Amino acid sequence: MEFEQMKVQLHALISNKTLLQATISQPRQKSNDLKRVKLKPVEIRGDYMIQLEFQYERILKHENITIEDLSVKLDALFEQFRQVHAEFQEQTVQVQLSKKNKVLWKSDQNTTVKQVNLSHNRKKQYLLDDSRVHPFLVRLGVQTEDGKIKKQKYDKFKQINRFVEFIDDSLAHLPKDRTIRILDFGSGKSYLTFALYHYLKIEKGLDIHVTGLDLKKEVIEECNRIAADLQYEDLQFLVGDINDFNEETAVDMVVTLHACDVATDMALARAVRWDAKVILSVPCCQHELNRQLQVPALSIMTQHGLVKERFAALATDSIRAELLSLVGYDTQLLEFIDMENTPKNILIRAYHTGKKPTSEQRLKYDEFVRFLNAKPFLENELQDLLL
Ligand SMILES: C[S@@+](CC[C@H](N)C(=O)[O-])C[C@H]1O[C@@H](n2cnc3c(N)ncnc32)[C@H](O)[C@@H]1O
Repeated sequence: MEFEQMKVQLHALISNKTLLQATISQPRQKSNDLKRVKLKPVEIRGDYMIQLEFQYERILKHENITIEDLSVKLDALFEQFRQVHAEFQEQTVQVQLSKKNKVLWKSDQNTTVKQVNLSHNRKKQYLLDDSRVHPFLVRLGVQTEDGKIKKQKYDKFKQINRFVEFIDDSLAHLPKDRTIRILDFGSGKSYLTFALYHYLKIEKGLDIHVTGLDLKKEVIEECNRIAADLQYEDLQFLVGDINDFNEETAVDMVVTLHACDVATDMALARAVRWDAKVILSVPCCQHELNRQLQVPALSIMTQHGLVKERFAALATDSIRAELLSLVGYDTQLLEFIDMENTPKNILIRAYHTGKKPTSEQRLKYDEFVRFLNAKPFLENELQDLLL
């Protein structure tokens, strides 16, 4: 089969609306930042579309396109990749391209016809099962006594579920032979702190100890009352400033959810000092870099306050991720939740590896912060650990 014919055939198969899922992989260049692209059908406002999930080195991006637009997209993708694995209802197709685009097309009939699932609109299965009554959610006012998630609390419910999914994914990085110590910095009303305690201790039966820390005395007192009422014995809440926090000497996981401005950086710095195995942090508002940014080359963007604010937030999270990499963490910036729920939708995930950075990595970082005229709080905190 010729290369062009292969693309037409693949497009024709996808146009039949029998696609279950497909993966386009094997980059032609190893250095390609885009590693693979997954395709699946979705229904959006009644229209059949294809959702593309672009897996980059550090992030995932999504795009929904019509079948008509797919053929141009496939042309572009085959300039970058040499392999396709596509499952259709009745057959599974494997395509391998040589460097010169010689095509190897293999197709196997499925033994049973599978059902297409346009799962964009499927009811979400939450880790905290919303068909059950959870006493802590009732007590926190998220759920009614008869188990309904209150409408005005639904966004928070989605956020804590998503966060718990990330925690669940990171369990392999945590110790199995002793108590896992977890800190939630800037815990506030502590929806997340209670949720993670409930999920890990009550549902999974793990040996954990959880501390929530916040500046607000009354809020912390109320959280301690709730923990006592629920008999959550290994959950404690303390009043204090992250920056002065010395009560723990060894912490395995540090989490933050919307800790204001540089409070996120304080938490990241604390976590690094403890060599915490796992850091999961969803930053909040960002003012530090926004104040420092004076870069003529960026003025077309930064003349607009809104764009400047977003740019500063994105650059700050990139700087945070890079600093964590430079001090021995495998770090990724991931989509936390959809923009409709909250625009604060980046999660920093860092797993401790102890891997030393290269001097090029450090140079690249220095160039970036110099260009932005940035003086990051976190860099200052980690100065002695940087190469
Ligand atoms: C936006 S709230 C988020 C609360 C909670 N994590 C949540 O997502 O529901 C931010 C919290 O961080 C706390 N905070 C800010 N700076 C802090 C600091 N330096 N030390 C401790 N807590 C801090 C605030 O008091 C506030 O409760």
